[in-house]
Amino acid sequence: MTNDTVIEQAIAQVRSVMAGDLRAPQVKSFFHEPTFTASYVVSDPVAKRAAIIDSVWDFDQPSGRTSFKSADEIVAHVREQGLTVDWILETHAHADHLSAAPYLQEKLGGKLVIGREIVTVQGVFGKIFNEGTEFARDGSQFDQLVADGEQLMIGEIPLIALHVPGHTPADLAYVVGDAAFIGDTMFMPDYGSARADFPGGDAARLYRSVRRLMRLPDKTRVFLCHDYKAPNRDHFVWETTMLAQRTANVHVHEGVTEAEFVEMRTQRDATLEMPRLILPSIQVNMRGGHMPQPEENGVSYLKLPVDVL
Ligand SMILES: [Fe+2]
Repeated sequence: MTNDTVIEQAIAQVRSVMAGDLRAPQVKSFFHEPTFTASYVVSDPVAKRAAIIDSVWDFDQPSGRTSFKSADEIVAHVREQGLTVDWILETHAHADHLSAAPYLQEKLGGKLVIGREIVTVQGVFGKIFNEGTEFARDGSQFDQLVADGEQLMIGEIPLIALHVPGHTPADLAYVVGDAAFIGDTMFMPDYGSARADFPGGDAARLYRSVRRLMRLPDKTRVFLCHDYKAPNRDHFVWETTMLAQRTANVHVHEGVTEAEFVEMRTQRDATLEMPRLILPSIQVNMRGGHMPQPEENGVSYLKLPVDVL
């Protein structure tokens, strides 16, 4: 990675916050315990502009019922703070929770954004769910598809998108001022890294993505997509620093080689069960957070492919 101008730019941006030349964004987090997901509202506290990252649409699988209880907490926060939402971001097409992005967009406005490689994910899962031509595989369910190095503004604070594939082909990390939202790449240092065995996942790519993220400065505030507690820790935590990741991440701290990581990850992934909500989550999230088209009785149905995953 000798000529990675994108990460250089992200490094420079974090440093300019530390030097006092760029305002630090405010980050408000929301933790959804049923799916262990952290969602964020990241804002420019002066300009009062904001982005929402990785929201959750509550789904009760046994009954097939949904609710916006969790999303409404985000709506309430945004309104209380008087924020204008410009962006509703996904780090990737999640396999463990449904996204509330379309609901939040309807309530608060903002553009729906995901990584450009979502089209690859749509291709893979379009096949798995045997979708017909009504399921577009061109990312058109989102307002904007973002590539590595693209920048968005949250008020006067720039956001730089980094393509960090491995967990899925489409993962993005978002570096906003000195805050990095790293999605499913690393988790807390005492828990390790995200799995890489979903269709389209790749442990070696994940390793390279993590090493790229670890070039960010020590003091970069690092916000995770999930926390599952860890051995010897009985409370949830979803914020850490890049220094802690580099020195202490149990799976991928400095010194762990790519071959070692791939071997560990592959062995561990073989022991993991599929996430409880993977089948509904993917069907909804590959559609930008929408249920499949209702049938003629007005009801939407989710499929359950037998013996496929
Ligand atoms: Fe994920």
